[in-house]
Amino acid sequence: MLAPAERTRYEAYRRPADRLRFLTGRVLARTVAGRYLGVPPTSVELDATCPDCGKQHGKPRIPGNDLELSISHAGQRVGLAVAVGTSIGLDVESTSRSSGDDLLNYALSDAELDAVAGRPAAERARLFFTYWARKEALMKATGLGLKVPLRSITLAPPEAPPALLASAHDALDPATTAIVDLDAGQGYAAAVAALTANGLTVNQRWWRAADFGELKPSR
Ligand SMILES: CC(C)(COP(=O)(O)OP(=O)(O)OC[C@H]1O[C@@H](n2cnc3c(N)ncnc32)[C@H](O)[C@@H]1OP(=O)(O)O)[C@@H](O)C(=O)NCCC(=O)NCCS
Repeated sequence: MLAPAERTRYEAYRRPADRLRFLTGRVLARTVAGRYLGVPPTSVELDATCPDCGKQHGKPRIPGNDLELSISHAGQRVGLAVAVGTSIGLDVESTSRSSGDDLLNYALSDAELDAVAGRPAAERARLFFTYWARKEALMKATGLGLKVPLRSITLAPPEAPPALLASAHDALDPATTAIVDLDAGQGYAAAVAALTANGLTVNQRWWRAADFGELKPSR
């Protein structure tokens, strides 16, 4: 199912797990998009041109179509978000990584640091990954990814419904963003974000390896 540029990326991954995560994301994207478009997955063109360097490692798009995609992988999870006519971003994070002070200071705004200050370490780590997934989902929705500085935006406290409260970056405006947390299972935090003023309803579903046959469109 891989196009030549994807095949090159696939082969460049040294670790088998990274290869498989990449492959799974692209197979999912092609399969779901193909079903939506009514074409075989192999006929779906994914353009992931990086606006900075022109390589095929940016946000995937389907040229000439309003189906929007976002892919994320972490640990044992590979996620795909799809929407029609609305820019979306998906982020999945493994919460078993360490979340020391350096990472907190890099990712959280002053108001967010205040919200997690004084919490027990385990709770602070959980809240941090909730923030991180919500923030990165927003940044991926813009197509800029982490070129939007994580500290340039402030989100609602992690226990509150997810929302962008303030942004110092032109690409994100609290009036035209929506965020929804996903259930990615034990050991993961995940969120999907959209650039919209109309709210966001997410239908989440799980695929397991054995379910892939069910996704194959009939030809
Ligand atoms: C996108 C980015 C946030 C990835 O974060 P991550 O936590 O390592 O990885 P995730 O698994 O959540 O997401 C990776 C996926 O995001 C997508 N993606 C890549 N660039 C993206 C972007 N700018 N915006 C949104 N999504 C992007 C891709 O689909 C990628 O998966 P794939 O290439 O296997 O299909 C990060 O790589 C980034 O900010 N890149 C853009 C900035 C940059 O470095 N630009 C200069 C490159 S020359």
